[in-house]
Amino acid sequence: MTDKINELLRRVEEFKPKAAAEIEDFRIKILGKKGELNALLEEFKSVAPELKRELGQKINHLKSVATERINTLREQMQQAAADAPETEDMSRPGSAEELGSRHPISLVKNQIVEVFSRLGYTVAEGPEIEDDWHVFSALNFPPEHPARDMQDTFFVEKNPDILLRTHTSSIQVRTMEHQKPPIRVICPGRVFRNEAISYRAHCIFHQIEGLYIDEGVSFADLKQSLLYFAKEIFGEQTAIRMRPSYFPFTEPSAEVDVSCNLCGGKGCPVCKGTGWLEIMGCGMVDPNVLKANGIDPEKYSGFAFGMGIERIAMLKYGVKDLRLYFENDVRFLHQFDTAL
Ligand code: DAH
Repeated sequence: MTDKINELLRRVEEFKPKAAAEIEDFRIKILGKKGELNALLEEFKSVAPELKRELGQKINHLKSVATERINTLREQMQQAAADAPETEDMSRPGSAEELGSRHPISLVKNQIVEVFSRLGYTVAEGPEIEDDWHVFSALNFPPEHPARDMQDTFFVEKNPDILLRTHTSSIQVRTMEHQKPPIRVICPGRVFRNEAISYRAHCIFHQIEGLYIDEGVSFADLKQSLLYFAKEIFGEQTAIRMRPSYFPFTEPSAEVDVSCNLCGGKGCPVCKGTGWLEIMGCGMVDPNVLKANGIDPEKYSGFAFGMGIERIAMLKYGVKDLRLYFENDVRFLHQFDTAL
């Protein structure tokens, strides 16, 4: 048995691992439950009593030498790994974080708000889930007006009084509720209409509404404000024209066109040969609307206008399909990185 112990001791002392895994294998082989040391202890049980003391000491010595050797080898191996030369090339340039870009609708919205804020307008907002009063009744829509119809409006559950706003004109009403004239607000927001989705229509889109009420506000003020706006957004050379139109909440009402910035007014496929592009509706606030909202139409007058942000962005950036704004394909969105 002494020979066996000495032989094992020699193997422990001579053990030279090349990798960390070899140390663990060796430990299991020698000190593991079914390892060689335990086999020796098993054999030790049947050793003659007079030899027990000497052999016992030898086995204990073997065990502590083996444990110590394994621990030392482990530490050496760890130290060697820590001291190994860097495999990373520290001089390589870092990879930059990709920055996102602003959505074109936000860009155009911010530009429009900025232009009107220079004219003294402040931003007003309102809820997307509205009631009939703020979207229709207070804006002089007669009860049988088709815009109230199921085909245009999303109603919330079965209650015809609660609906998703179909235009930002509802914010006019909310503003008049809280503010006395002079009022000068610009109201961006999301609107909802029950429309089939195509390249030129969507059931969700964005509008900006403007409202100006004070003593002596005239149609000339409206026209000059919109001309200023058109030049700021589409360029100094831009002209506007106004065509008579109808909206329940304005009288008189007009549709506003800008000169086509692609062909300079000569006529091209985008403006369908007319040289003009329609951008918004506007008019003088109907006295009925002022009255419904507690403002004296004998004393005050005002104008209002409303436009689709998608439409302005399409004309400004030459986007041909409205659906691109909602799909959020980064190849589309990244084109506007520099549009800030
Ligand atoms: N609310 C109208 C629409 O959604 C747009 C509009 C037209 C707003 C004329 C106005 C306005 O304030 O005066 O089509």
